[in-house]
Amino acid sequence: MQRLSGKVALVTGGSRGIGAAIARRLAEEGAAVVMTYVNGEAQAQSVVDGIVSTGGQATAVRADNRDAAALEAAVERTVAELGGLDILINNAGIFPTGTIEEVTLEELDRTIAINLRAPVVAAMAVVGHMPEGGRIITIGSNLAVRVPWPGISLYAMSKAGLVGLTKGLARDLGPRGINVNVVHPGSTDTDMNPADGELSDPQRSLMAIPRYNEAGDVAGLVAWLAGPEGRSVTGAEFTIDGGANI
Ligand SMILES: NC(=O)c1ccc[n+]([C@@H]2O[C@H](COP(=O)([O-])OP(=O)(O)OC[C@H]3O[C@@H](n4cnc5c(N)ncnc54)[C@H](OP(=O)(O)O)[C@@H]3O)[C@@H](O)[C@H]2O)c1
Repeated sequence: MQRLSGKVALVTGGSRGIGAAIARRLAEEGAAVVMTYVNGEAQAQSVVDGIVSTGGQATAVRADNRDAAALEAAVERTVAELGGLDILINNAGIFPTGTIEEVTLEELDRTIAINLRAPVVAAMAVVGHMPEGGRIITIGSNLAVRVPWPGISLYAMSKAGLVGLTKGLARDLGPRGINVNVVHPGSTDTDMNPADGELSDPQRSLMAIPRYNEAGDVAGLVAWLAGPEGRSVTGAEFTIDGGANI
């Protein structure tokens, strides 16, 4: 089904995990996709090659979320090469751990820069290009709204900030017909949180359905929000976590 035919999407952190699954899914649905990465050049290229080999359109661009100029350049390059930008997926993120006695100022600044400041920078850079019907979809976390263990305060803070950003942007951009939403995955099998990792059983114990998401599960929800049926949904949070937040 080519529900996104003619659309252009930019996915931050598309080289691995949830971002790679979103890039593949949006391309399958017909969008031309640009994805960013920071270290994973070969992995990003392999995602691009996979999309192109099945008839899709994709490009990878190195842009560190900490570098506003690099993110802005990725947006400008997308618009210049593909003629516009309809869908922004703020996905790139890091998962710092440590209690308040353990975390450092450097980790605090890095977490804010990558997880929170970059989605604001990306939104600032895209809005001048985004037409009516545009979408901004940010990947938050179910830990934004519930903190079941110590040691994740920086991460939870950064993801909670994305909720306020989403609601504010939805108000700012609603008059222009641009929808802004945040998707909160729970435990999702990626490098960040492997389903067979030593911390996976405690996570499963919180869930009503004790099964990790596959990255494609999150991508399916994102693709729906990006598509035509999502046109009335804005300023909303979607939790996809096997009922861990019930
Ligand atoms: N996995 C989970 O259980 C889970 C649950 C809730 C929310 N999330 C959120 O989902 C998003 C994706 O997570 P994931 O599990 O797919 O993580 P992942 O497997 O660690 O992949 C992270 C992606 O982000 C990119 N990235 C990291 N730092 C970056 C930076 N400074 N600038 C640009 N790109 C950067 C990485 O690029 P490189 O390959 O170049 O390093 C990679 O593509 C994150 O926002 C995360 O917080 C994940």
